[in-house]
Amino acid sequence: MKYRSVIATQYGGPEVLQVVENDLRSPRAGEARIRVLAASVCRPDITARRGEALYSGTPLGQKIPFTPGYAVVGVVEAIGPGVREVAIGERVGALTIIGGYSEVIYWKSSRLIPILPALDPPEAVTLILNYLVAYQALHRSAKIKAGERALIIGASGGIGTALLQLGSLAGLTLYGTASADKHPTLTEYGVTPIDYHTQDFVEVIRRAEPDGLDAVFDGVSSIETIHGGLALLRRGGRLVSFGEPAGLPALFRILKKMIAVNLLQREKALKLYGTSTYFLGDRKPYLEDWTTLLRLLEERKIKPVIAKKFPILEAAQANDLLESGQVAGNVVLVTPELL
Ligand SMILES: NC(=O)c1ccc[n+]([C@@H]2O[C@H](COP(=O)([O-])OP(=O)(O)OC[C@H]3O[C@@H](n4cnc5c(N)ncnc54)[C@H](OP(=O)(O)O)[C@@H]3O)[C@@H](O)[C@H]2O)c1
Repeated sequence: MKYRSVIATQYGGPEVLQVVENDLRSPRAGEARIRVLAASVCRPDITARRGEALYSGTPLGQKIPFTPGYAVVGVVEAIGPGVREVAIGERVGALTIIGGYSEVIYWKSSRLIPILPALDPPEAVTLILNYLVAYQALHRSAKIKAGERALIIGASGGIGTALLQLGSLAGLTLYGTASADKHPTLTEYGVTPIDYHTQDFVEVIRRAEPDGLDAVFDGVSSIETIHGGLALLRRGGRLVSFGEPAGLPALFRILKKMIAVNLLQREKALKLYGTSTYFLGDRKPYLEDWTTLLRLLEERKIKPVIAKKFPILEAAQANDLLESGQVAGNVVLVTPELL
């Protein structure tokens, strides 16, 4: 028996993604075999594929060939010896980082997230990464409170649209930067849009909020957006930078700024957010936050913006669309019956 997956054969554009056939095997001890129903297509897939991710070119960088795909939702179709957390037929999710663009994945059963079968798999898969980042940036990093005023830099993307929904739900007054054609997505949630192509967000917000903002969520994370965001914060304000810095020199400049802001000036806070602690540290907060997000989806309090769905094996076209910057929200790969 065979299954198909998509691999990046070399670093480059979407054309380096190719479909390959693999032998289906039995899961090993502690492992489950999952038939993928939906896989997210996200910005880190693109930077890894292009060889432009933070650690590309270093020993920590992603080696080629590899299968991209940061998050999946699927059905357990076989379990290995000793697996107790899940049973065959159950629906689960996984934060995979790589490997999601595939008809089948093998994953450690202790790292699977239970997903209610009633939930729509393409919607549920957006919670595993994009909504998780948004939720943790809001509630764990910035510790926002109802009535606070905040700016989202990059409000039209996968994480940006999650931030504007979760931020509105939490009672924030929000401003967001995005290209003008995507402003209707922001105004739908009562967010004041700023076109970063034609307007300086610092000037616009200084006029609108002379007392300053309580929080800034920066998905671009250039030294310019961080400087601009910090300048807008009131005393006690928090800037959460969750975007991937453009290489190690950019990261070092941000770390230097963090030392100046957090240790020397101490009037405002600059926080870096990353999901890497899921693999390095305590996973309990992640499970708690996924549970909260799945409940919000079940209660229809959040509604993921799905720009387009593609068949799993058409990952190259899906990457092309996300990379073109023409869509607001999420691009998702699905099995043919979910198209
Ligand atoms: N920290 C983590 O654990 C983590 C996890 C996942 C992703 N990320 C990072 O988070 C960032 C956002 O990811 P995403 O998936 O939401 O990306 P996305 O869907 O591609 O959205 C990108 C957003 O950035 C805006 N944008 C692009 N260039 C800009 C510029 N020069 N100035 C201002 N805004 C600009 C886009 O606006 P328009 O399209 O409206 O022009 C859009 O709103 C990426 O850097 C990604 O690598 C971090």
